[in-house]
Amino acid sequence: MNNTDSSGPSPQQCINWFRNSAPYINAHRGKTFVLMFGGEAVQHSSFHHTVHDVALLHALGIRLILIHGARPQIDAKLELQGVHTSMLGGIRLTQRQALGPVLDAVGSVRLLIEAQLSMGLANSPMYGARIDVVSGNFITARPYGVRNGVDYGLTGEVRSVDTAALRHQLDHHHVALLGPVGYSPSGEVFNLVAEDVAVHVAEAVQADKLIFLTTSQGIEENQHILREMIPNEVDQYLRGKELDSELLRYLDAARRACRGGVRRIHLVSYLEDGALLQELFTRDGSGTLITQDPYEEIRQASIEDIGGLLELLRPLEEEGILVRRSREKLEQEIAHFAVIERDGMIVGCGALYPLPDEDDSCTSAEIAGLAVHPSYRRSQRGSELLEFLEKKAVSRSIRKLFVLTTRTAHWFLEHGFEAVGIEQLPKSRAALYNFQRNSLVFCKEI
Ligand SMILES: CC(C)(COP(=O)(O)OP(=O)(O)OC[C@H]1O[C@@H](n2cnc3c(N)ncnc32)[C@H](O)[C@@H]1OP(=O)(O)O)[C@@H](O)C(=O)NCCC(=O)NCCS
Repeated sequence: MNNTDSSGPSPQQCINWFRNSAPYINAHRGKTFVLMFGGEAVQHSSFHHTVHDVALLHALGIRLILIHGARPQIDAKLELQGVHTSMLGGIRLTQRQALGPVLDAVGSVRLLIEAQLSMGLANSPMYGARIDVVSGNFITARPYGVRNGVDYGLTGEVRSVDTAALRHQLDHHHVALLGPVGYSPSGEVFNLVAEDVAVHVAEAVQADKLIFLTTSQGIEENQHILREMIPNEVDQYLRGKELDSELLRYLDAARRACRGGVRRIHLVSYLEDGALLQELFTRDGSGTLITQDPYEEIRQASIEDIGGLLELLRPLEEEGILVRRSREKLEQEIAHFAVIERDGMIVGCGALYPLPDEDDSCTSAEIAGLAVHPSYRRSQRGSELLEFLEKKAVSRSIRKLFVLTTRTAHWFLEHGFEAVGIEQLPKSRAALYNFQRNSLVFCKEI
């Protein structure tokens, strides 16, 4: 029976997609993401897609804090009640008579989001998923005050974030939902700028990601979406521009968060169905990422890396390029491995196994299990791993490196290795040589 729907992806495409996303699913599990969206996104017809994606991220073990804005809803309530407020530099001046409509609007948006997340997600891929949403007095605020002679009234700014309370909720698998209001210790309520709440919360909880959902696909220059920007590039981009659009306000908030220690800030479209998932679970993403620099390090492996290592090595073992190692063997041998970690994902690895000589000294070692994820090859990562392992060898007074390979001979030749006979291997290793595999042996003096 053929179940293929000619309009949709084939089962094989689905399987490939799932396999390619697996490393990202693994890397994001247990991480904390702050997701900010304005009131415009909530009232847009695409909001149910956003809610489904939130449910999916939650189901995948991501710790979520949602921050919502409510500008259009506040504008509508103010108009309805005949209260006029002015905006200065993107910030509303909240006189006392405006506070009622502001709270009405913020409260209704929050209830609407809570309702959407409580629907049991009928008619969606996440049908039956249950999400416990928690709102609360997580934000302490203070008055924005009088600036340049202008009194901002009950407009406030974030004074502190109750990180312990937020973490407690996340630890209990709740999704936290915060709006653009905060409370003062004297019991007053302040109208806050939602993106400021997002930045402060992301910094306070040391979020792994801060994501702004916006109408644009990302930051555009010369009709191209800029995939990655560092804060200095954002400075240049924003120079001389008024922060008069949601996108530019988010970009400004993103550079502040980045400088405040949030590693990765994403601007992603909520209009395009699936853009958020594409950004998080595919290599090329879909929006703009603001980051200090791509976080990547080469280091000694630890037991926590086993899951990532298995995902990297399994396909190569199945192809017969690398020798198969069970999880148990990998656990036993983890101290021999070095890894390259990029944004929480293991993208490269290699091992150095000391080879005892007959007199029990150890002057040679074998390089094995050298691998770089196919999406990250040809950027010197393989060479860097080899260099890292060579340095480790030198520090242990090892003089000779061996490698046994079936398909990567030329790569090692180009890295200073020379072909040698099996008899050159230390006896302990030669005894284990697998004649069926018939690997070529290479050696390098270091
Ligand atoms: C070998 C490997 C680790 C290199 O990783 P990498 O990050 O791409 O390495 P570098 O960027 O330092 O080097 C890339 C260069 O090596 C070349 N190269 C890659 N694999 C090669 C091979 N099997 N034979 C010859 N050259 C090879 C690439 O073509 C590229 O050169 P080019 O840009 O001039 O064409 C990676 O290709 C890999 O994981 N291969 C599969 C696993 C494997 O074979 N491991 C070795 C067994 S111990």
